Amino acid sequence: KAADRGAYPYYMLKEIDEQPAVLHRIQETYLQDSGIPVLDQEMLNAMAKADRIYIVGAGTSYHAGLVGQTLFEKLAQVPTQAVLASEFAYTDPILSKHPFFIFLTQSGETADSRQVLVRVNEEWQAPSLTITNVENSTLYREASYQLLLQAGPEIAVASTKAYTAQIAVEAVVAKALGTRKQVPAADAFDLQHELSLAANAIQAIVDDKAQIKTVAHKDLATTRNAFYIGRGVDYFVALEAALKLKEISYIQAEGFASGELKHGTIALIEDQTPVIALITQARTASHTRGNIQEVQSRGAQVLTIVSENLAKTSDQLVIPSISELLMPLISVVPAQLLAYYASLERGYNVDQPRNLAKSVTVE
Ligand code: G6P
Repeated sequence: KAADRGAYPYYMLKEIDEQPAVLHRIQETYLQDSGIPVLDQEMLNAMAKADRIYIVGAGTSYHAGLVGQTLFEKLAQVPTQAVLASEFAYTDPILSKHPFFIFLTQSGETADSRQVLVRVNEEWQAPSLTITNVENSTLYREASYQLLLQAGPEIAVASTKAYTAQIAVEAVVAKALGTRKQVPAADAFDLQHELSLAANAIQAIVDDKAQIKTVAHKDLATTRNAFYIGRGVDYFVALEAALKLKEISYIQAEGFASGELKHGTIALIEDQTPVIALITQARTASHTRGNIQEVQSRGAQVLTIVSENLAKTSDQLVIPSISELLMPLISVVPAQLLAYYASLERGYNVDQPRNLAKSVTVE
């Protein structure tokens, strides 16, 4: 049974391990052998008319939406904005002339996201797509179009495989839209191949968990706080990585844009403060390296998660490199495992963290 924990001590670990299989299922469901996406043409026509895409989500789904901004802008050349459902529901945004809304929601039941969808349908009368893990959920039923994440049931409160599935499905939609609009970058992007590479890379990381367990034991067992830093999509993954750590290990963890450290946050760095840097983008790698030096000289205990092509001998967690656009699929996995092992180290119930619910149906 898909929801059976099997020999795993916690669902979260099982769900982390399932990510390569989820990516394969997304390939099988949404891509032809040739790599051409198979999506509803009517939906793509509606999206092609959009002058701006709004991606609505909460928590981890919002973080997947941030990564989606880059995918839609690069592959489909549509201005794209990720928005927090709980904020967007109660503001008066000046929308573009032809907005298209994408709802990212694992459960399909998040009240904050639904509140925005109600406005989209009633007030703004704009087309929408819900990308969810749960068929016939509320947001699935109420959107104009729907796609399933194909992730299988996600039981652990801390979301892992739904996040990677959301990014992969966003990539499928962005590629399909870009192809439909004849954007050269979309044609040139071999998504089929890149998703296979991503699945293999995640497999390699989960096969080598022991290394991450050791790091969690050394750096995260007793610390009061921890920081993730990165630039561009690495920053977006830093936000998700910090959320994972907060949710299940109760370490006060924050994700920061590396370049912003010097504008205030660096005041928080003390001797031995763990700072985990994500480096997967060539354009900003040397800048983030500079920021690492700044925190190191103030005593930080630095850990790096770096793609192979940008790695130096001093880097600790070197991950396989694929297309930079899809590196979030890979770089988040060591962070998921770090959070998992930090929670175990501290003796918490990984799957059932205090104060949290899997699906939040209050605003
Ligand atoms: C809850 C969960 C989070 C999740 C968020 C959005 O707060 O604990 O893990 O990211 O809701 O959920 P959704 O089902 O809309 O993705």
